[in-house]
Amino acid sequence: MIRLALRVRREDAEIALAELLELAPSGVEEREDGDVIEYAVYGAPGELPALPDLRAAAGGALVEITTQEVPDDWHERWKAFHRPVEVRREDRALRVRPPWEPADGATGVEDLVIDPGQAFGTGAHHTTRLCLELLLELDPGDACVDLGCGSGVLAIAAARLGWAPVLGLDHEAESVEATRANAAANAAVVEVRAFDLLHDGPAPTAPTVLANLLRPLLLHVARTGFSGGEAPRALVASGLLAHEADEVAAAFAEHHGLYEADRRHGGEWAALLLVR
Ligand SMILES: C[S@@+](CC[C@H](N)C(=O)[O-])C[C@H]1O[C@@H](n2cnc3c(N)ncnc32)[C@H](O)[C@@H]1O
Repeated sequence: MIRLALRVRREDAEIALAELLELAPSGVEEREDGDVIEYAVYGAPGELPALPDLRAAAGGALVEITTQEVPDDWHERWKAFHRPVEVRREDRALRVRPPWEPADGATGVEDLVIDPGQAFGTGAHHTTRLCLELLLELDPGDACVDLGCGSGVLAIAAARLGWAPVLGLDHEAESVEATRANAAANAAVVEVRAFDLLHDGPAPTAPTVLANLLRPLLLHVARTGFSGGEAPRALVASGLLAHEADEVAAAFAEHHGLYEADRRHGGEWAALLLVR
């Protein structure tokens, strides 16, 4: 097994991470070393991102790329980086944990078990966590669509909080499979379909839409619109670096008359709650 580490300058690390997660959607291990942040992925030779792609992802932030043979207990150490995440608002709370972490048994907390498999979304990434925070701000009910569902964490959280029906869409087969498996494991009723937001037409819509996508895809959705022409009543838009949020809010205001009701930050990331 190989450990492939990308070392980048701290001041540009979050931007490099955003690019890197496109190449390694199930997440990366993170270590700090003074002014340098190291992001690492594990895999067999041939499964890892190609070096030119990694160099392009890091851009001007690159310090160095190193590879190292690691013993086969790497997955045990990898698990140590997927920790439970708890999001709370007044009397409602969600705890998202990987399957190898025990439930903490607290009452009044929705306990979600998410195995990311090869898909993005352990709940721990700022972009997902911010969506969960904004979801807790909304009144559950009616239909919900999760655009780019990854592991299904947001769709499953919505179903468990009371939205119905819930639809999860992703263009990656691994994500569709992971969302189906995780929904079943959490006794959550979620329909899951393969859908490519770039090529399959306007985005399916519902009164509540969750969209943890990156800026280009959110702008694409803003421009191409929603199926049936009806904008959601509430759109949670995440996956944005803080400086990208104004542009995306403006695009949904211009094309769909949505206005910004809330904005949350985590690290370098921002998420928007846009409403009609
Ligand atoms: C940042 S992840 C979010 C995953 C999960 N919803 C979460 O919040 O943790 C973005 C997801 O969008 C999906 N995606 C990227 N491009 C897409 C496209 N063109 N059509 C549909 N899904 C796409 C990716 O496969 C990935 O699962």
